[in-house]
Amino acid sequence: MGIGRLSDGLAPTPPMGWNSWNRFGVKIDERLVLETAEAMVSSGMRDAGYRYVVIDDGWMAPERDRNGDFVADPDKFPSGIRALADRVHALGLRFGIYTDAGTKTCQELPASLGYEFRDARRFAEWGVDYVKVDWCHTQGMGPRALYAKWAMALHAARRPIVLSICEWGRARPWEWAGGLGHLWRTCWDIQPEWSSILTILDRQAELHPFAGPDHWNDPDMLEVGNGDLTAEQSRAHFALWSILAAPLMAGNDLRTMNDDVREILTAREIVAIDQDAAGKQGQRISRNGDIDVWTRAIGTNGDRAIAVLNRGSVAREVRVALEDIGVAPGANVRVRDLWKRADIGEARHEMLIPTSPKSATVLGITAR
Ligand code: GAL
Repeated sequence: MGIGRLSDGLAPTPPMGWNSWNRFGVKIDERLVLETAEAMVSSGMRDAGYRYVVIDDGWMAPERDRNGDFVADPDKFPSGIRALADRVHALGLRFGIYTDAGTKTCQELPASLGYEFRDARRFAEWGVDYVKVDWCHTQGMGPRALYAKWAMALHAARRPIVLSICEWGRARPWEWAGGLGHLWRTCWDIQPEWSSILTILDRQAELHPFAGPDHWNDPDMLEVGNGDLTAEQSRAHFALWSILAAPLMAGNDLRTMNDDVREILTAREIVAIDQDAAGKQGQRISRNGDIDVWTRAIGTNGDRAIAVLNRGSVAREVRVALEDIGVAPGANVRVRDLWKRADIGEARHEMLIPTSPKSATVLGITAR
């Protein structure tokens, strides 16, 4: 293991789901998880492709049991994890959990160093489908070796489990993690602020060669519906993450989200960019002052998605030459508004794309 890139079919497209951390931190319990799973179904998110319901840090009791096994916090999860996973499965969803590779989690709870095989076995018994393995309290340890141990432990547990590697991009995981896990964080924690979205985005610009089916760069979970992000900023965040072939893990309160937020998370043609079966991560083709142009190849017929990001505070029209986004000269190009799901015209040689301040304009291009 550790040679080449994973191609086990467990994450043919970037995983989609929900994770408790961004909105709830350690304030999680079985009721929240069940209500969230139900909301995932009733909101249409499950039908839009969201599958994994993942509990992050804060689920475990402060001590392991006498045998050394993990125990769920009995106040937060009185029915136990197995029963919770069963109920999530009964809704047609998958269940994910969190641990840490070191001596303690980031919240000082028991973690998995030295217990990898035991914990992987326990997770498999509980019916876990996805494990996020964090990197706090790992002083002096090599992430490559330790995550390789996790990959072996999950393999030995004989249940298909997605491995989400979370060492924050410190040891250039894109160079080695693709042979071990299905996704790996490329950056520090996201915040529900525009500046955080942009800082993270800039760190992704060189990473497109490393991603593909079953091995994805992870620029962190979504903040759509959290903090002070405006609807426009949330749309830009969501569309850019889709261009990046990022895992789409919602991080908001699904039980109380408003229609704007739900419509962003379930926007069919934006999600389709992310989930394109060819699995080619997009890239930035230019950055000029406040304007970035990002593009992603869709399918194998030369179709593309394009996002023009305006970081500034004035509206701008941006000229994009079709040649610069890889469209063959003379091709017959149709342009589509992917948010509105409407064809908006044809183009020859170049496009003049309107942008609003602190937002992104997202278009689909069909070239024949
Ligand atoms: C961080 C991780 C976050 C969250 C948190 C939990 O290291 O990047 O996504 O899991 O730990 O304590």
